[in-house]
Amino acid sequence: MNELTKAIGELKRQKNAIILAHYYQMGEIQDIADYVGDSLALAQWAAKTEADIIVMCGVHFMGETAKILSPGKKVLVPDLAAGCSLADSCPADRFERFVNDHPGYTVISYVNTTAAVKALTDVVVTSTNARQIVESFPEDEKIIFGPDRNLGNYINSVTGRQMLLWDGACHVHEQFSVEKIVELKAEYPDALVLAHPECKGALLRLADVVGSTAALLKYAVARPEHTYIVATESGILHEMRKKCPQTLFIPAPPNDSTCACNECNFMRLNTLEKLYDCLKNESPEITVDPAVAMRAVKPIERMLELSEALGL
Ligand code: 13P
Ligand code: SF4
Repeated sequence: MNELTKAIGELKRQKNAIILAHYYQMGEIQDIADYVGDSLALAQWAAKTEADIIVMCGVHFMGETAKILSPGKKVLVPDLAAGCSLADSCPADRFERFVNDHPGYTVISYVNTTAAVKALTDVVVTSTNARQIVESFPEDEKIIFGPDRNLGNYINSVTGRQMLLWDGACHVHEQFSVEKIVELKAEYPDALVLAHPECKGALLRLADVVGSTAALLKYAVARPEHTYIVATESGILHEMRKKCPQTLFIPAPPNDSTCACNECNFMRLNTLEKLYDCLKNESPEITVDPAVAMRAVKPIERMLELSEALGL
């Protein structure tokens, strides 16, 4: 254990802090975290922790969700600039006009949204529970789903629903090259393609398994004898390789091979040094306008209740 890692552990104990990390964080952050998980697990841990400080090693909307669920706690993120292109693709003022233009619709929003968008929402979902939560509504329920058009189209295709979709997307998941994945499949004929539902439809149609980061990990851990081509942010490969050291995991290549487009530049803003500084200085801190938080908490809590009832 190096000096920085030891110092972070010491500060964490002194301040009764908990470190939560998403699977897309760099490996050294995942290794030091108390819990590593997907968006749903991060929200569930944030809601029930008894720590005084939550350090959210993820992106801004994850910190906001934690703060909304635990308003009495200090929620820190190592780098406040860690945003999300998908959340940015859905500005609250435009989403509000869209919702107002469609009276009588139930609004389901992906957790990758700002608190202001959640405040306009009836129930929040993550990629782990989106399908089941949509299916928990009557078949003729009129639903607006935002902001991810790929996830929305995927749910429409597997459930036969006709949800009205917001036209947003994640720049990382849209970048994967179907052609290069087809080439990889020819090179590794036994490999299975694991894909996150934020990927484009053409990729999802050729995938063997479509699921959240936690679902893809669970699938691979249960079947370590396969080779896997993994179409989601490459941070997940850290935990996959830790859990299945004998298995070959191949990160799906992006269209533009001159850049690491399968890494989320926002997620990668967090570093061990920034994590140390944020614990030491108790800054940067996530704040949410209390009036917005009061409305946003309801659809998030509804998601947690539904997830519990669904055993997720
Ligand atoms: P999950 O954590 O739900 O798999 O979602 C991935 C993601 O894009 C988080 O930003
Ligand atoms: Fe947002 Fe995409 Fe990064 Fe996830 S991977 S945080 S959806 S930009």
